[in-house]
Amino acid sequence: MSPPFSTSFKPILAAVALLYCSCTSTVPGPATRKEQGQVLPLCLPRAHAVQQEVRGLLMGALESGGTAAAFQACSRQAPALLLEAGKAEPRLDMRRVSRRPLGANQPDVWEALALDHFEQQLALDRALPQAWVQRLEADGQRRFRCYLPITMGSPCLPCHGGAESLADTVKALLVAANVEAPAYAQGELLGLLRVEIAAGDLP
Ligand code: HEC
Repeated sequence: MSPPFSTSFKPILAAVALLYCSCTSTVPGPATRKEQGQVLPLCLPRAHAVQQEVRGLLMGALESGGTAAAFQACSRQAPALLLEAGKAEPRLDMRRVSRRPLGANQPDVWEALALDHFEQQLALDRALPQAWVQRLEADGQRRFRCYLPITMGSPCLPCHGGAESLADTVKALLVAANVEAPAYAQGELLGLLRVEIAAGDLP
């Protein structure tokens, strides 16, 4: 006797369901190509603009007021610039994270996964991806996060480098906060700029 109609179609139905799920996935993880195409044009131009602003601010502070001014610029003014840059429509929630931060900028679980991704790509390709997009569910709402790498340059050494290159101001801060020197070497991935957008704000 031939199997009933429904049984013989089961594998086909399962394959169709699997295909459907993989194309319209809602589980947290890397964004699909289509989602990347929606998220990146909204996030990248504003992220690049604010990254340039922060860099300009830091370099200006280092030149005019030395380490003390740069300390203020990186710890106070840079987060304020990120906040301001996120206020335009659509709203973007921007922050900087690092594995060995100077401030309270430890990554959350999704940001840690993004750091893993960038570090793995760096190890595999010897180059950092320009950006990476993640889909996640937070507080019952779907959101996307776009990450941009921040690399360690020589102007960053007095504060984010190893103990031998640290400025005295930073040494005092680290002792007071009971934090170890971040000890990033030049060219290393220092951290990520994380840009978050609600799925409802996508076109
Ligand atoms: C004179 C000191 C100083 C210099 C130079 C400096 N920073 Fe910072 N940076 C800080 C301080 C202090 C914080 C902590 C901010 C906070 O409390 O949120 C910080 C925070 C950061 C963070 C967030 C992660 C963390 O460590 O808390 C990133 C990313 C960062 N800086 C990147 C850079 C880059 C890139 C450069 C070089 C172009 C640089 N900084 C140069 C003092 C400095």
